[in-house]
Amino acid sequence: MDNLSGNSISVGLIGCGIVGTGVAKLLAQSRELVASRVGITINLAKVADINPDTVAALDLAPGVYTNDAMEIINDPSIPIVVELIGGQGIAKDFVLAALNQGKTVVTANKALVAAYRDEISAACEASGGDFLFEASVGGCMPVIKSLRESLVSNRVDSIFGILNGTCNYILTQITQEGIPFKEALAQAQELGFAEADPTLDIEGMDTVHKLALCVALAFGTRVNYKEIYVDGITRITPLDITIAAEFGYRVKLLAITKNHGDCVEARVHPTMIPFDNLLSSVGRNMNAVKIVGDAVGEMVLYGAGAGMMPTASAVVGDIVDAARNIKLGCHPRIPAFSYQPQAIRDLPLMPMDEVSTRYYVRFSALDRPGVLSKIAGVLARYSISIASVHQKGRHTEGPVPIVMLTHEAREADIQKALEEISGLDVIAEKPMLIRIEDQNQE
Ligand code: HSE
Repeated sequence: MDNLSGNSISVGLIGCGIVGTGVAKLLAQSRELVASRVGITINLAKVADINPDTVAALDLAPGVYTNDAMEIINDPSIPIVVELIGGQGIAKDFVLAALNQGKTVVTANKALVAAYRDEISAACEASGGDFLFEASVGGCMPVIKSLRESLVSNRVDSIFGILNGTCNYILTQITQEGIPFKEALAQAQELGFAEADPTLDIEGMDTVHKLALCVALAFGTRVNYKEIYVDGITRITPLDITIAAEFGYRVKLLAITKNHGDCVEARVHPTMIPFDNLLSSVGRNMNAVKIVGDAVGEMVLYGAGAGMMPTASAVVGDIVDAARNIKLGCHPRIPAFSYQPQAIRDLPLMPMDEVSTRYYVRFSALDRPGVLSKIAGVLARYSISIASVHQKGRHTEGPVPIVMLTHEAREADIQKALEEISGLDVIAEKPMLIRIEDQNQE
């Protein structure tokens, strides 16, 4: 493919929404800087979007805009195709069509990569195409580069991530302002930190997509993202956040994965982490990822997980990597999913029932003699050991919150115990459960 004309290389951009616009702007504004570092000029040769209005502000040269993405995919002078449509629909067809032609595809589309990882790998293998997706996880942060390249000699033991800015912003507002979830969500929407339809974010699926990619890259295994346990942030109340703080914890939506050798633990849920855990101080809409490897120990990345220019920065980083690889005639240089295809294993996911962790449980119970012993009796029958107890307020009528922190217990046991406790006549509503991740206490 004759795609290097002198020292310039052509890129086609499909989808010119917020991130696409950012990529076009950043390519223009960093043109000389990139050329001075890389020795190649990146030429934005074509921009495809169904809506011509989206590119109006970009001041593109005549002939650059098209409403037909296939014009980019079928153009032999464009070796790098950037897909920024998002979602699992038409984006998939464009990505696979470009890979099947041996092109390099750059994307920020975590939902697509999580769902079609096998098809993408097969297309890369068959055609020699290359696939880069740094912006899919953690926006501007080099999470994927760290896992695929910098930590190549490490056995990764675990990853803990705050990977959704919308959720982190909402949880920060509940923590700092004491406002309920719905009000915090409305604020996030007003400020543009949450989508008009925030379901994927607040229910945790966006984080699951990102976690599935981390698991694949870290452990060289195929996981079905649909099997990852997920619980979003919609039930979190200011009361739980206040009590958690009294115990020395903050509540974060955490993506957690641990390598158990013969299986992989992977889950996404609100998690209490102690104040001395760096992730607990990640506020507002920021993201952070802690990777634990056998050689590096703990390593933490922090940065903007979304937004026009931070996300564009990651996309342009991939474009430049692709340009360097093509210039050197060595693409693909690194397997898309980090491991050689023959080394990828099918490790089972640890069933959620078998996960062991510590728990915060808030009961809403009548304030009567004997209530605590009834609750404690059920917990004891399921071998759940209580680490501390805290009762808020004192009412002769109506329920009061009774909070218990447990020692490490099995998920199956706590779930069964809570079901039984929910049936007690002194319990007013379904107990609230938040899992605790506290290496100081394990
Ligand atoms: N919607 C995501 C977030 C960003 O709120 O972090 C894109 O994955």
